[in-house]
Amino acid sequence: NKSYKIDFEPVGLRGKCMPGISLLECARTLGVDLVNLCGGNGTCGQCIVQIIEGSVSCLTKTEENFLSPDQINQGYRLACKTIPLSDLKVSVPPDSLTTPQRTQVESMDLPVVPEPLVKMYDIEMTAPGSNDLCSDSRRLINRLKEQYNINVLSIDLDVLREMPVYLRDNNWKARAVLRENKIIALGCQDSRLAGIAFDIGTTKIAAYLLDLNTGRTLASKGMMNPQIKYGEDIIARLLYAQESQKQALHIREILSNTLNQIIGDLCSYAGLTNNDIFEIVVVCNTAIHHLFLGLPGKSLSLAPYIPVTDSELDIKAEKLGLKTAKGAYVHFLPNIAGYVGADHVAMLTALEILEQKGIVIALDIGTNTEICLLNKGSLTSLSCASGPAFEGAHVKFGMRAGQGAIERLRIENNKVIYKTIGGKPAKGFCGSGILDIFAWLYKAGIMDRTGKLTDNHPLIRKINGINHFVINIKDQDKSQCFEITFSQKDIREVQLAKGAVRTGIQALLKANNLTEKDIDKIFIAGAFGSYIDVKSAKTAGMLPNIPSNRFTQVGNAAGLGSRLALISRSRREQARYIARQVEYLELAVFPDFPEIFAKSMYLDS
Ligand code: FES
Repeated sequence: NKSYKIDFEPVGLRGKCMPGISLLECARTLGVDLVNLCGGNGTCGQCIVQIIEGSVSCLTKTEENFLSPDQINQGYRLACKTIPLSDLKVSVPPDSLTTPQRTQVESMDLPVVPEPLVKMYDIEMTAPGSNDLCSDSRRLINRLKEQYNINVLSIDLDVLREMPVYLRDNNWKARAVLRENKIIALGCQDSRLAGIAFDIGTTKIAAYLLDLNTGRTLASKGMMNPQIKYGEDIIARLLYAQESQKQALHIREILSNTLNQIIGDLCSYAGLTNNDIFEIVVVCNTAIHHLFLGLPGKSLSLAPYIPVTDSELDIKAEKLGLKTAKGAYVHFLPNIAGYVGADHVAMLTALEILEQKGIVIALDIGTNTEICLLNKGSLTSLSCASGPAFEGAHVKFGMRAGQGAIERLRIENNKVIYKTIGGKPAKGFCGSGILDIFAWLYKAGIMDRTGKLTDNHPLIRKINGINHFVINIKDQDKSQCFEITFSQKDIREVQLAKGAVRTGIQALLKANNLTEKDIDKIFIAGAFGSYIDVKSAKTAGMLPNIPSNRFTQVGNAAGLGSRLALISRSRREQARYIARQVEYLELAVFPDFPEIFAKSMYLDS
């Protein structure tokens, strides 16, 4: 019987399952901890998963009882009632995991005084009469000037359409919602003023709901980017959208549907409704920006990767299919280049990069790593294709940072000592664990500078003619032993990834006539960057070998930047300014690129 390959995302666990068994069984076999309070009887409704790719058995009556029609349309199923009929890609929502994937702890308070672009004003007017014939809009504008000294410059057409009935029904009292000097909506008496900041990554989406008056983050949520089913890499998604209008629309809609789901969830956590959301800020890479806005992506998918626009944009939320208050806008921070997007701008804004002193590097390590160098007030950025190895892909026992992932490891006296996330039996390695393996194999003399594993060592074994570093794992009750491995092939994958990051840093320095010794500070942003052991990253040759106190791990700086741009007009202006200051460096045409890249593959370089 042929087995099926099942890939559980975003936990990053995948493997083979025999036909005929339920997805819940598959999850158990592969170590994915799905909630199953009823033990798979179909009575708790907790084991919800989303089928992203592949075919499964028909929907059962039981599932119809637990899932909404919307969920069913989006491919949600109960894992215990679903049988795979082909290879599958399955997304596991955080609520369906007994122990969720680790997310970064982020401060709910922001280091700024709120200065939102959108504000609400309560006003009272006198009714028109034979001595007072001015128009409804003039009456509103005049009153805003008298009561609040605001110069209204324009009123949205939708507001004009509803205004006559609204004013008369409310006895000439109004709650005007202004965005800068434009009236965008007329609120109800119980309207709250809230906004959402989205950081839309290639793989994951982070979202934050903020009270626009106080600046407080009321709720946050992470989710998979549903566009992943059209390609893990962004070029595949751009090509998919180029094939037809229908496909371009589809890839937009699946994203807006997910954003609507997030908006709904965040509002219900915070006791708000969609009608309280008056402003949204989006930061993402340039390709996701183009896909979301329905901009042609052809020139972006081919060298020299030219975007349609790099300007900031303000677009009505309803035009993007988002369910918010009437009149709400979505603000897109500016991009820099085809592969350096608004998420990079948001990171630099959050770091207040232009206020930093000396030679400063800021980087966010992901499938694409964007790096910026600050030198005497000028900024140069580039992007390098570091690939998904640190996210667990292309490495046999690689996985994302979930329960049971080895996140720290060291080798002492030929013994492997490791720590897993949640203290669970090891299932694989996440990015920080992979870097530790790299560093310790080298320090223990098991791997040389070129990344070659030695033939003779008790921790090394040949499997199918290839050297593997082997770790013996004991199950929780210590009754079973099994092995997880890291092969010579895995090492080569990681060398490409870490070599790309180091090449990017060196190219920026070289273009500025600097060397690594000149660096005063390195900011490491992003989920992976927050958890790495900087010493291991230096030994592995991913980061420059400069004193450890020059490194700062800053968490999700792009997400912070998007929140700041949502809540603070001046931070939004800074983002605009930074984006225009950055000079873009194209790594692929950098003269010494092949040479630098070859050297960056070594360890301890
Ligand atoms: Fe309870 Fe599936 S495990 S419904």
